[in-house]
Amino acid sequence: MAKQDKDATFVGDSRVSAKRIPNISPSYSDFPGKTEPFWPNFLLKEWMVAAVCLVGFLILTVSHPSPLTDKANPNDTSFLPLPDWYFLFLYQLLKYPWAAGDWVVIGIIGIPGIAFGALMLAPWLDTGKERRPSKRPVATGLMLTALVAIFYLTWTANDQANHLKHKSGGEGGGGTPPAAAAPAPADSSFKADAVWKAQASCMGCHGGNMEGGMGPNLQKIGSELDATQIADIIKNGKGAMPPKLIKDDAEIQKLAEYLASLK
Ligand code: HEC
Repeated sequence: MAKQDKDATFVGDSRVSAKRIPNISPSYSDFPGKTEPFWPNFLLKEWMVAAVCLVGFLILTVSHPSPLTDKANPNDTSFLPLPDWYFLFLYQLLKYPWAAGDWVVIGIIGIPGIAFGALMLAPWLDTGKERRPSKRPVATGLMLTALVAIFYLTWTANDQANHLKHKSGGEGGGGTPPAAAAPAPADSSFKADAVWKAQASCMGCHGGNMEGGMGPNLQKIGSELDATQIADIIKNGKGAMPPKLIKDDAEIQKLAEYLASLK
């Protein structure tokens, strides 16, 4: 080991060429007890830290599996599409009038571009040799501003989202009524009649036992709609449901009456 140590060159700050510092030590063996070889001593320590982090992550993923949220439901009008938390601040930025609409280019490219571009160019923009944060007020100030801004934007986005969820979730005011927002839970013991089982096209969206899927649960549809209304929906469609799935009027009537009887 000792022999190789002599050949090692202390590089130091990667932004400063070694040749420009005449008094740099040619070897770390000039500092006995104060330095250590990169291989294997230093690397081993790094690996040990990495192993601890990795095991920590593994334990977290096993003990807290990421939850699968509800199935995508096109009828849920209260659904609020939100980006993951680490993108919330960018999402929030686009809500401000000066970064949206006509100015959206500022919001999607301008501000993030300048911020991330500056991060990438930092080694060239800030060539000072000072390392201490307190001696680099501009760099430190910008970084702190960015951190505060990201924290504030994430917080506000989350706050506003919670607000919206509460509004549409209950109290009956403003948003859609809860009944429409959350379709009745499917009754797994419910068995549909042969009249329904014959309608493969309906089952594709409403399920083999009307438990719902792409379309809403119909297991208690009779308590909301009568046969005439149901027949009308089958003939003319509704929302994302296509019209004219059944051509035969008598067949529509029979199915509508059966559905209307479900209460
Ligand atoms: C492409 C998927 C699709 C198919 C196929 C489909 N539906 Fe629907 N259905 C929907 C959707 C989506 C809605 C909700 C429409 C809305 O409320 O905007 C719906 C709504 C309904 C409703 C009204 C439910 C309510 O609570 O207002 C009835 C009744 C219904 N469908 C019956 C049928 C029948 C009978 C068939 C077969 C002829 C059928 N659907 C085929 C998707 C489908």
